[in-house]
Amino acid sequence: MRTITVAVSCLAFAGEAAQEDTPWKTLAKLLAGQTPSDAFSVPGARMTSRTNRWNPLSMMARKPIVGGNWKCNPAKPGDLEGLVANINACDTSKCDVYVCPSNLHLGMVYEKFNDGILVAPQNCNFAGCGAYTGEMSVDQMKEMGIKACMIGHSERRMEFGLPTPYESNALLATKLKYILDAGLMCILAIGEPLPVREKGLEAVVDYCKGQLCDVLPTLKALEDKSRVVIAYEPVWSIGTGVTASPEQAQETQANIRSFIKDKCGADIAAKVRIQYGGSASPDNIEGLSKNPDIDGFLVGGASLKPTFVGMIEHLSK
Ligand code: 13P
Repeated sequence: MRTITVAVSCLAFAGEAAQEDTPWKTLAKLLAGQTPSDAFSVPGARMTSRTNRWNPLSMMARKPIVGGNWKCNPAKPGDLEGLVANINACDTSKCDVYVCPSNLHLGMVYEKFNDGILVAPQNCNFAGCGAYTGEMSVDQMKEMGIKACMIGHSERRMEFGLPTPYESNALLATKLKYILDAGLMCILAIGEPLPVREKGLEAVVDYCKGQLCDVLPTLKALEDKSRVVIAYEPVWSIGTGVTASPEQAQETQANIRSFIKDKCGADIAAKVRIQYGGSASPDNIEGLSKNPDIDGFLVGGASLKPTFVGMIEHLSK
């Protein structure tokens, strides 16, 4: 059943692509001998096993992107220097890198990262400066020169069990628009909890579609699609040491991309980057990163270790 769905959606796209021409034109440029960077007009674009498959949606090169989410770490401010040095060891020429320090530490470190490394707060409010105790506005971020913000992490969606209302998809769509309108990049995390995964792929994809529905109009209207990054993080894999298999991650992310194509168009679907997150580490990304719809990783625990740089090196090959 799944195979049939994918085949049908690829055929449907082939029809649209023939009208829009973009991936086909790009292919022609590659066949004519242009480098991927030139053909795709994307600095750092590369032709690897991830991008050279005959799949029109994946033919558009996307620069890989890896994020380090420090969550509520480290405990001691004295440990920040070493963590910053870890991130600064990353070469961003072929792989975008962002880091999400804790709210408390962000102001201490945001100016200490090398050029090219984006600092992305782990949340923002929805409406700007004013009487919002305990919140951070995108206006404040912008004034600090911050260029990215992450929202929608399952831990923010209250998976860690606070007896307060969940951050709804509608609220997150408001935040996403606010972030993009201010000119920042937005990392939107989505992903299903274990009971949904246990029902199978269709339920997982429906769940993710539900999390994306409200942001589609903003995504469609956005000129620079690289400013939206979707982080697919199955809740059951976060901090558990259980990574989604490459097949699970790829088929889910391919379906997410296909949904974006259906709702927003092939060009948008080809440009939006989709990361995988959930117990990702240098030891397990090889199989995951070979897949055409996995454009990088959002990393929690492993981003606090010196070996984190190896993940960026792997994606930069
Ligand atoms: P882990 O890599 O620790 O599983 O965390 C993933 C995550 O939640 C990143 O946002």
